[in-house]
Amino acid sequence: MKHQKLLPFPESFLWGASTSAYQVEGASREDGKGLSCQDVKKVPEGTSELDICADEYHRFKEDIALYAEMRFKTYRFSIAWTRILPEGTGTVNQKGIDHYNDVIDECLKYHIEPLVTMYHFDMPHALNQRGSWSNRDSIEWFADYAKTLFENFGDRVKYWLTINEQNMMTLVGPVIGTSVLPSDCTNEKKELYQQNHHMLLAQAKAMILCHEMLPGAKIGPAPNISPVYADSCRAQDVLAAQNANAIRNWLYLDAAVYGKYNALVLSYLKEQNAMFEIQPDDMNILKQAKPDFIGFNYYDTSVCKWPANTQEDHTDRKKADQQSRMQVDGAFASCVNPYLKKTDFGWNIDPEGLRVALREIYSRYHLPMIITENGLGAYDVLEEDGTVHDPYRIEYLKKHIQQIQLAITDGCEMLGYCPWSAIDLISTHEGIKKRYGFIYVDREEFDLKTMKRYRKDSFYWYQNVIRSNGDIL
Ligand code: BG6
Repeated sequence: MKHQKLLPFPESFLWGASTSAYQVEGASREDGKGLSCQDVKKVPEGTSELDICADEYHRFKEDIALYAEMRFKTYRFSIAWTRILPEGTGTVNQKGIDHYNDVIDECLKYHIEPLVTMYHFDMPHALNQRGSWSNRDSIEWFADYAKTLFENFGDRVKYWLTINEQNMMTLVGPVIGTSVLPSDCTNEKKELYQQNHHMLLAQAKAMILCHEMLPGAKIGPAPNISPVYADSCRAQDVLAAQNANAIRNWLYLDAAVYGKYNALVLSYLKEQNAMFEIQPDDMNILKQAKPDFIGFNYYDTSVCKWPANTQEDHTDRKKADQQSRMQVDGAFASCVNPYLKKTDFGWNIDPEGLRVALREIYSRYHLPMIITENGLGAYDVLEEDGTVHDPYRIEYLKKHIQQIQLAITDGCEMLGYCPWSAIDLISTHEGIKKRYGFIYVDREEFDLKTMKRYRKDSFYWYQNVIRSNGDIL
């Protein structure tokens, strides 16, 4: 629809931004924190370790004051499982509880609504040693952790996100440092989807528990959604795009919202001899869980065509990242989109794809939506006078926010927008040099410099966007 008049953003729209614990906090071995998979992984050559990051663990008051200055209505951050339960299960670490109490209280002091991700790529190492998500006990490990969070923070946290990008952990786990397979694994694909099944059950239990324990709270999933376009109007290419959308996107939301497995994915897995085990009561558990909203991360879109070869799998799981073009065995083959520009780090820039995603998700699930990530990774430069000029980021964000307003006018129900990232932090696999924040952190890959915070041009721009509730766009 070409709208003649745009609807305004709702008054209650949650403008904010996101971070995750292992990428922003640092203090990875302090105050009783246990090790997570991120603390023991070998970081890619030429990129920083994850032990100091932006040091938000020690500087959260200063950072949250800056978020308040930007007029954030919400701050999406994750809780490190290993600060709360250093071994993943068992004894609670009071210092971890105290820390997040302080972070939450600091947000509330400025009327910033905490939007808490329970798990963002940082499985406790101790649990990985006990079989990680391959172990069916992982469902209870996560449910117990969720209960501890609800007991301790549920009086103040009203918005919860379960698992960040479960689809990326399943599809491209090695590059983001989350993949653990049993040493005797002989069928990798089956094992990955078994892990995925356990994660879905864990998420379902957390959603059920949240509603039982905290009647006023809202909870939702947070996958990475990237609409897949067909390469041509040939029906075969449309079928390939449907396959890709099912495998990459809808499997995760169908299960979270309807408690059902996507039929295309099940058929594909059976064909691949990768059908995982579902125990008798599992589907009931999935069905009982009802998210209140859908959170999703959006960075780009992709294009697919019918695969030439029905057997080959060209996806290199060891190299593919969150936005890599995937090629899945006989289901679809990826193509280049000639209409899109790319970021300095090779990800497509497709603001209109965000409107596509919003319309599609709303049509499929009829739930309010919050964008939990979206942003531009770039090489920012700190000038001698302390300024950082990032017009490219402003341009990127502006175009995406405009598409949100168009989607609102289309009839989509929107709760908020939390771009990635509130402040510079360490990328999943490309270091600090790939900066996303509104706030520049004065450090380099291997030189911690002053760690001082500097407001980028996008900081002031976003402050005005929020001040005008999106009216200045
Ligand atoms: C998302 C993740 O996939 O993308 C974040 O949830 C991540 O953790 C963000 O940092 C940007 O990706 P990258 O690889 O550039 O850090």
